[in-house]
Amino acid sequence: QNIGFIFDLDGVIVDTAKYHFLAWKKLANELGFEFTIEQNEMFKGVSRKRCLEILLDIGKVTATQEQFNTWMHDKNVDYLAYIEKMDASEILPEVPKVLEFLKKNKIPIALGSASKNARPILKKVGLLAYFDAILDGNNVTKAKPDPEVFLLAAKEINIAPENCIVFEDAVAGIAAANNAKMTSIGIGDASILVEAKYNFKDFTEMSLDFIKELIGKK
Ligand code: BG6
Ligand code: MG
Repeated sequence: QNIGFIFDLDGVIVDTAKYHFLAWKKLANELGFEFTIEQNEMFKGVSRKRCLEILLDIGKVTATQEQFNTWMHDKNVDYLAYIEKMDASEILPEVPKVLEFLKKNKIPIALGSASKNARPILKKVGLLAYFDAILDGNNVTKAKPDPEVFLLAAKEINIAPENCIVFEDAVAGIAAANNAKMTSIGIGDASILVEAKYNFKDFTEMSLDFIKELIGKK
């Protein structure tokens, strides 16, 4: 078959949003303001740089370029301390089952993530070997909702964009998939991911039969 699957990382394969949150919250508190779990929703799928811009807006903090870079670096150091402790137990439910199914059927699998920490995370949780291509924050010049990361992933696995299926948990990510003319599948709250072609709360709600049907359609 001429079909490929592209996975977002944070919030689709692993629940790292809680670690991003803790690291941003620490920075906000150090700068003298609060940062809530609700506000953290806005950070999903958004680049590290853009996240810090939003955070500083929330706290009404102005920064010199040097401070900005220092804070971005500090946040990442804190985040990496959480990542360091991750293992396979933090893989979201039934993700391995889906990856295993695709592998068995020789369907190419790619990662399309905004994170610059994608490889170490996949390695930590033991999923690196499943991916035929890894495109992440280190490879792109334009962030989601721009389709760049997904188009690069499609190119690398040699599948036409319209034959790619994308799993995403972020509004910006669903938009990026749609902008790439790919089939978007929202993983998470359907009332938030309204632009997705299909929606599932998580992979436990999505059967392998659904994937087989998708493959059959292409
Ligand atoms: C995305 C996350 O996958 O990666 C965002 O959803 C995060 O919350 C972004 O800001 C960048 O991640 P990193 O690891 O490069 O700071
Ligand atoms: Mg995500």
